[in-house]
Amino acid sequence: MNILLTGGAGFIGSHTIIELDKAGHDVVVVDNLCNSNPEALRRVAKIIGKEVPFVEADVRDRAAMEQIFTDNKIDAVIHFAGLKAVGESVSKPLEYYENNMNATFVLLDVMRKHGCKNLIFSSSATVYGDPAVIPITEDCPKGHCTNPYGQTKSMLEEVLIDVQKADNEWNIVLLRYFNPIGAHPSGTMGENPNGIPNNLMPYITQTAVGIREELGVFGNDYDTHDGTGVRDYIHVCDLAAGHVAALKAIDRKCGLAIYNLGTGHGYSVLDVVNAFMKVNGVNVPYVIKPRRPGDIATCYCDPAKAKAELGWEAQYGIEEMCRDSWNWQKNNPKGY
Ligand code: NAD
Ligand code: UD1
Repeated sequence: MNILLTGGAGFIGSHTIIELDKAGHDVVVVDNLCNSNPEALRRVAKIIGKEVPFVEADVRDRAAMEQIFTDNKIDAVIHFAGLKAVGESVSKPLEYYENNMNATFVLLDVMRKHGCKNLIFSSSATVYGDPAVIPITEDCPKGHCTNPYGQTKSMLEEVLIDVQKADNEWNIVLLRYFNPIGAHPSGTMGENPNGIPNNLMPYITQTAVGIREELGVFGNDYDTHDGTGVRDYIHVCDLAAGHVAALKAIDRKCGLAIYNLGTGHGYSVLDVVNAFMKVNGVNVPYVIKPRRPGDIATCYCDPAKAKAELGWEAQYGIEEMCRDSWNWQKNNPKGY
């Protein structure tokens, strides 16, 4: 298939290009580079041995999007483009709602005009809020999102459900990612956060490499095996492969389908820190800090539906996630 990746220069998108290429798909990337670097696409090109067709444009730019669909016969779109920093979304709600919602509205309208009605959407485990059941299955009710970023994911899911309901020519797959970490095993590609990282793994790697003095562990009084928060970390290459698998659902005209993409295993903050230090033989100094507002104790999924219906399951364990995250950080201490 010929796949358009919005936000394809970003962390998950760039790794997904490699998996799509492996599976024989062609890609076109559109990205406005607001949170990415074109060097990521050059590194992808090195790995796959060919240039990645790239249009630098904003998905909200209707004329630019029309042009992409006129110039290319697109079979399906994977919609990664969006702003994703939880803390920033609290201080800049309008920017987050405007970007994430409008980009999706323009994309959907241009797609339908050009008769392309196959979409995979980057959603998040955040839509479950404080989950009603653990492990989380796809039919677990959605919960309250504590920040505008999460709200955009939850609202866009509803928009997409309505669009598909109104016109059953659409095939829409909502992929709810758990916690993507890790990096390409080559050590040439990985996560490239701007400023102080919000998420655990980039904070760990930057502490290990000496950019940050110590990791703050946000709370050790949760109801978990060691008191620190438990999450379902998934290697970004496994997550990328999940998108290739999701194309199978599109292929068999799924209508609307929802899948959790996680490993099904929960690791605490201290489990991750200890695994990282052990696998990589480096020290990660840490201190216990108060809980971070909005955090929950435990979040991991039941990934059985994706296995049964898409034949997908995560291959990498926490050791490989820690190894590849470190490999990327130490080879590229300043990112791209
Ligand atoms: P990322 O920031 O690395 O990638 C997103 C890309 O979208 C960036 O390259 C950015 O420049 C681009 N972009 C943003 N707004 C755009 C616009 N209006 N027009 C064109 N390009 C635009 O983030 P990521 O980690 O690769 O995440 C990809 C998607 O997955 C996002 O939608 C994110 O919300 C979602 N997601 C990420 C995580 C995670 O932990 N990384 C978890 C759940 C869901
Ligand atoms: C966060 C977002 C969520 C988003 C997800 C994936 C919040 C409230 N939620 O979730 O919306 O979908 O990232 O991008 O931000 N931790 C520390 N010290 C740190 C950083 C994190 O102890 O410096 C802990 C957290 O308290 C948590 C775990 O590590 O227990 C994972 O944190 P993080 O990587 O931010 O992911 P989530 O909290 O799951």
